[in-house]
Amino acid sequence: MKRANIVWLTVALVLGVAALAPPVDALADRSFTWHMLQHLVILYGVPALVLLARPFETFAAVAGKAKTARFVHATRPLHVVTSPHVALAVFVATLWLTHFSGLYERSLESAPIHFAEHLVYFTAGAFFWLPVLAPPPLRPCSFPARLLFLTLALPQGALLGMALGSARAPLYPHYVALQGSVSAALRDQHDAAALMWIAGGMIVLAALLLTLGVWARRETIAAAVPPLVLLLLVLALHGAGAAPTAPVAPSYTGDQAVKGQILFYENCAECHGADLAGNFGPALAGGGGNVQWETVSYVWTYMTAHMPAGNAGGLRPDEYLGIMAFLLKVHGHPPGAAPLSSAAAAASKAFMGP
Ligand code: HEC
Repeated sequence: MKRANIVWLTVALVLGVAALAPPVDALADRSFTWHMLQHLVILYGVPALVLLARPFETFAAVAGKAKTARFVHATRPLHVVTSPHVALAVFVATLWLTHFSGLYERSLESAPIHFAEHLVYFTAGAFFWLPVLAPPPLRPCSFPARLLFLTLALPQGALLGMALGSARAPLYPHYVALQGSVSAALRDQHDAAALMWIAGGMIVLAALLLTLGVWARRETIAAAVPPLVLLLLVLALHGAGAAPTAPVAPSYTGDQAVKGQILFYENCAECHGADLAGNFGPALAGGGGNVQWETVSYVWTYMTAHMPAGNAGGLRPDEYLGIMAFLLKVHGHPPGAAPLSSAAAAASKAFMGP
């Protein structure tokens, strides 16, 4: 067994065990962001290291040449899966299906499903790296094909990050229950999305640059490498700069919210219900209305222009601010030290949330 193979395998094991060990696993159970980190390690890190450890060579060293020849013959169909098409399809399908089906939420509640999910990620990761890192006797594809494959794979993490980051409601009730509030779970979800976007992108970009470097050392395309590297870095930084950051709801004081609650009962409850569940007017909280999907800015602009219906714009600015503070509180945004101002309310792109 070659020394390099042992080193790669050891690093793979250490990384895998660290990612799945109780301290990280406990954090991953409570926080989507930690969970994302754990999954990135299982998806990208561990499979790449296992492939670098040339598992078939080790197998041959342990089992003997004859057995290995038979094994390689039996696994001949495996060559198909080193094709970049298969790799990309398996990889992308796994990412989207695990996050946007019921599977993820169920894996949070059940240990066997969670284990199966990690196995799926490891397998998808192995598929992903095969076109680039296929260990002998399998062969990676040609350098141009590897570069094309990695370039196509590069935006996949960003797309998933974007989808997760732009979701207006928490996708997984498990985290809402554990973190105690919708806004905390939503912030966590945005952080996880940014991690997927940036860290996922950086890993594939690093693979792309390394592949370019290895190729350049073999061929005489070295002259083309520096400008390409520069171009890629600019693209990557551009992507990272645009990564989603959760807009935070504007601050209001507890005092404003208390006054607002009284004003709401006096001016709005008749139509929107004392419990905000709706009456003649639509529900302003809970699942019955649309307000949870609206931004603070929208609700503020709408209610100062059109409400109370029949007396549109009839309240004083500080009265509207109080009601807005009350609505923020009802939607789970905690009060702070600074009072709410009309400018802040009109500018905030934070979602009201359920
Ligand atoms: C006389 C009844 C009535 C009163 C009083 C009233 N509203 Fe409304 N409100 C409505 C109706 C009806 C709608 C739906 C309008 C539409 O869809 O065209 C509405 C819509 C809204 C919306 C938009 C909801 C959405 O889903 O887009 C908000 C926000 C709102 N009202 C806030 C208030 C506030 C705050 C007050 C008190 C200051 C108030 N309303 C008083 C009847 C009322």
